[in-house]
This record gives sequence, structure tokens and C-alpha cells, in this order.
Amino acid sequence: MHASLIAATAALGGLLFGYDTGVISGALLFLREAFQLSPFMQGVVTSIALAGAAFGAAFAGDLADRFGRRPVILATALIFVLGSIVSALAPSLTVLLIGRLLVGFGIGVSSMLSPLYLAETAPAETRGAMVSLNQLMITVGIVVSYLVGYAFASSGGWRWMLGLGALPGFVLAGGMLALPESPRWLAGHGHIADARVALKALRGSYERADEIDAELAQMQTDLAREGRVERKGAQVSVFSPSVRMPLIVGVGLAAFQQVTGINTVIYFAPTIFQAAGLSSASASILATAGVGAVNVLMTLVAIRLIDVVGRRVLLLVGMAGMAASLFALAGAFMIASGSGLVGWLTAASLTAYVAFFAIGLGPVFWLLISEIFPMAVRGRGMSMATVANWAFNLLVALTFLSIVSALGQSAAFLIYGVLTIGAFAFTWRLVPETKGRSLEDIQAAWGQGAAAPAE
Ligand code: BGC
Repeated sequence: MHASLIAATAALGGLLFGYDTGVISGALLFLREAFQLSPFMQGVVTSIALAGAAFGAAFAGDLADRFGRRPVILATALIFVLGSIVSALAPSLTVLLIGRLLVGFGIGVSSMLSPLYLAETAPAETRGAMVSLNQLMITVGIVVSYLVGYAFASSGGWRWMLGLGALPGFVLAGGMLALPESPRWLAGHGHIADARVALKALRGSYERADEIDAELAQMQTDLAREGRVERKGAQVSVFSPSVRMPLIVGVGLAAFQQVTGINTVIYFAPTIFQAAGLSSASASILATAGVGAVNVLMTLVAIRLIDVVGRRVLLLVGMAGMAASLFALAGAFMIASGSGLVGWLTAASLTAYVAFFAIGLGPVFWLLISEIFPMAVRGRGMSMATVANWAFNLLVALTFLSIVSALGQSAAFLIYGVLTIGAFAFTWRLVPETKGRSLEDIQAAWGQGAAAPAE
């Protein structure tokens, strides 16, 4: 199978992620009527999937370290299909909540296992682009969910909106049956012959046998070097000193990816636009679709750049741009809203904000957490960062509307802007460059205490 087809299949996990986090805002309008939901229960229906995702991510790493990446992704795709069908057919609110919890669980697991699998199967030189395909699929999933929401809005078809998520789940399950296990996981568990077969399946079409042997030999040497750590600590804990720095970077970036406010836009864009004076529903929808499209396009730009200019540059430029756009947004809301001009000014700064997120913090966070942990704890380390990401996602989703009603839109975006400056300082100080280096080499650099950028 061709490498890009393999990557595209594995990245379908991202499509599930994007589709199901985006679809609920459209479906909610109809669920509200169908189940007579109070505002509180609307919050519960929306956020139960986020809580399920945090829960799923907590288990995913350990399961994937033990049983391998492939069977866990496969099982998750099936859980996802089940959750989508249960949600679509739900005869009562309780069943709907169970369905959404299952879907959330599936999103949580695949949000970390798709990048992990992609990182472990990609060659070092193109790893950034391959792993970021997952983020591209997330952004495509969000746009598709907006379109599906729009298409079924007139018929009130919330069951279709929720049920259609089963489709990519089916394709992912089928695709994973055809894909090999991660050769790094196999080699790390002593299955060298199987690792060679897997590597051949991944690289076969364009690499010679001796190149495959060389890559495998390098992988084994590196894993053996890393294995010293494994034996010394008997079982390496995610809290052991050698894992401390990657954990601080991973969890720190996870928190910053969310507390800088991206999902206030992804989940509430139409509300924000209406508050800014784009009163007609069609102007709001147009602006929201524009934001979704910019998110996709700028992620494509990031994919082109990520293995060339590196991760740090994209993160730092992206964060600087996000902070500037957030301050512009806060300023736009400070000018008395209501006029069309302010509305479009808001739309422009919001779009710039999403563009800067898409070029940096969006793809680079998921990429870095798939790169910075040692093999022995990669699954568990990524799990912790991913749980933190979903937990902060939930926190922002639950608090945004209250912050706005207590302090106003302007103050809310000011807070996210200040937090983005914190994210910039954190990245500047602690995030290493990982471009073009093997996963094992990145690990060795942490061992030597290299938290600073190293090329
Ligand atoms: C984030 C999501 C966000 C999405 C937007 C992802 O990297 O983890 O929370 O909704 O990007 O594109």
C-alpha cells in the first residue's frame, strides 16, 4: 500500500474527532426541542462527549503499550460506530447520553492513537507532515459537520447528523484491518521478524530491502540504548526523572492549546458573530463556514512547512499571531458593537486567530506529544497529555459563556490573549526542536538534559 494511503487511513481517526466535536452545535438546536432540554442539560449533552474523551484517552495509552496500536485503534473504531448508532436511534435522553459518552470515549482514544501510529510508522524526514494529516482531518471533519448540520437543518434531522459519524468509523475499522502494526512497537516487544514484515509493508513500494534492514537495525540499536532506562527502573514510570521534562512539555502544551480559546470559536462562532453585530443568520453561517475553511487551508500550509522550518518556528509565529488577533478581537468588542463594520472587523480578527492556530498550536501540539516520549512510556505519556487536553477543552467549554455574561466578550478574549503570551514564553523556554530527528534520537537528547532547542 502506498505510504500516503496508509497515512490517510490512519488519519481517519482525526475525521471522527473533528466531525463529532463539530456536529453537536447544529444538532443541539433540534435536540433541545425533541427532549425539552433545559440550558443545563444542553451543556451536559454537549460536554458529556468531552468528558468521555478524557476518560478514553486515560485508558488508551496503557492499552496501546500492552496490546499494540493496531488492535486498540480497531476496537475504538467499532466503539465509535456503536456510539453513533446508539445516539442516532436514541428513544430517550438517557440513551442519547450513553451514545454520546461512547462516541466521546472513541474520540478520546483515537485523538491520541492516530498521531501515535502515524509518528511510529512515518520516516523521520516526513514525520511532521504525516502526523499533521491527522490535524488536517480534524479540520475537514469540523467543516463536514457544519455542512451536514446545514443540510439537515431544515428537516430537523438530528438523528442523521449524529448517525452519519458511523461512516468514517466503518472506513477506519476496515482500513486498519489492512494496515500493519507499528514496527517500533513490534521491535520494542522483541518481535523483530514481524517488525521487518511491517516495515516492508509500510515502505515496500519505494525502498530497497537493504534500506529496510538498515532502518530496522537503527531502530533496534536505538531501542536498545533506550532499553537501558527501561531495565534500570524495571518499569519506567511516567514520573521518573527521565520522563519529567517531556511530561511538563506535553501537558503544558495540552493545556495551552485549549486555554488560549480555540474551541470558543469552533463551538460558538455563530454566537460570537451575532454578538458582534452580524445579526442575520446567513451572515453568521457564512462567516462560520469561512472560519472552518481557513482552518483547513492553513493546516495545509502548516503541513508544507512543518518538516522544513521546524516545529518551534511554527509554534512561536502562530502564538504571536494568535495573541495579536485576540487583542484585536477584544478591541473590536470594546468599540460599541452593533455596527456592520465592527461585525466584519470581528470576523476578520477571528479568522486571523484561527489561521494562526492552524499554522502552529493546532497541528504542532499533537505532533510533539507523539515525538517527545520514550518508547517505554510513549503510550502512557501521550495519554496524560491527551487527558489534559480534553479536560481543559471541557473547562473552557463550560466556562466561556459564563465568563462572557459576567465580564463581557472583550474581557474574555483579553484573558485568552494573556494566556497566549504565557504559552509563547513556555514554548520559547522549554519546547525542543524535533524536526528530522529519529524518535529515539529525540529521546536521547532529553536524557542529556537538552530541553533547549537542538538541531
Ligand atoms: C484541537 C481541538 C480543536 C481543533 C480545531 C485540535 O488540534 O485539539 O480542540 O477543536 O484542533 O481545529
